[in-house]
Amino acid sequence: MVDLACDWLGLRLANPFVVGASPLCDRLEDAEAFVEAGAGAVVMHSLFEEQLIADQLATQRLLDSTIDINAEASSFMVDTDVFSQSANPTLQHLQRLAETLEVPVLGSLNGVSPGGWTYHAHEIAQHGAAALELNLYDVATDPSLTGAAIEQRQLQVVAAVVDAVDIPVSVKLSPFYASVPAFVARLHDAGASGVVVFNRFYQPDLDLETLDYERHLVLSSPAELPMRLHALAILHGQNDLSLAVTGGVHSGTDAAKAILCGAHAVQSVSALLRGGPEHLRAMTTELAAWLDEHGYRNLEEARGATSVGNCANPHELERLNYASLLHSWGAPDSTR
Ligand SMILES: Cc1cc2nc3c(=O)[nH]c(=O)nc-3n(C[C@H](O)[C@H](O)[C@H](O)COP(=O)(O)O)c2cc1C
Repeated sequence: MVDLACDWLGLRLANPFVVGASPLCDRLEDAEAFVEAGAGAVVMHSLFEEQLIADQLATQRLLDSTIDINAEASSFMVDTDVFSQSANPTLQHLQRLAETLEVPVLGSLNGVSPGGWTYHAHEIAQHGAAALELNLYDVATDPSLTGAAIEQRQLQVVAAVVDAVDIPVSVKLSPFYASVPAFVARLHDAGASGVVVFNRFYQPDLDLETLDYERHLVLSSPAELPMRLHALAILHGQNDLSLAVTGGVHSGTDAAKAILCGAHAVQSVSALLRGGPEHLRAMTTELAAWLDEHGYRNLEEARGATSVGNCANPHELERLNYASLLHSWGAPDSTR
């Protein structure tokens, strides 16, 4: 019997499967069904920086306009809780999940600039989140802003959020850094407890008739997993950060690969949007069966078994892999 229990972000999970940030837990009964099917933890959908700033500005405009109309009554309008007003339904739902579910519930914030919205990290912790996932979804458009400046800004956000809460903070990353390991090391120094690799980018397509951008949310496929495996294999053992994967986990064997490369937790969304709680149950069974067949008694034994740290010269391995892959083109079993 394989023991699937694991530690992630200082939390004890019954198994490594985490329902990733999405609408999957927007209804309590759905969240309960995922836990019943074996989810080790769940992440709520994100609160977005833009949404929070827009709410703050709207409230400020309301206050200003009222002050103009009725100056002597303005003190009645000062609401010290203004910033949490719009977030409240999400926070209330978070609290309900945290009180009801028997697994850790993570809150999620999505933002890229240091600012007052980081106050919401504190609110999320106050409403029962066991940990906070901070999504650094940042698309560079300003040519005068260097990669180093963007990274610095992101590190300031992480430090501010870590400072605002007394729960672990895990950072959901994009793959687009010149050096993911160097940035992750700096996240560690900024106080993060873990990282999640990697965000998917939902790039709009162009409609050639209307010349307008079209947004389609395309769910992932397992083809997106290898890039994440590669990152996990590099990051494993570099520091004591908890590692989670998101993007392309569709089966129990996908999860096995992520754990072998170093993942502590395995998040899934697209596969669960398609297959629901039953698919999660099947993934858990498949992971346990794979580990059992290959002689692993628990996740600790399997974690990182195929990480780059287990090879004497990681850089050489990278180059050899690259070179041998290119030379394999045209071989009988290569894809044409
Ligand atoms: C409908 C939908 C909503 C999502 N909402 C969020 C969100 O609120 N915050 C977030 O960080 N990621 C969000 N994501 C991204 C997922 O958490 C996940 O990182 C991504 O889908 C890749 O994992 P997958 O291949 O298992 O789908 C969303 C994804 C989908 C499909």
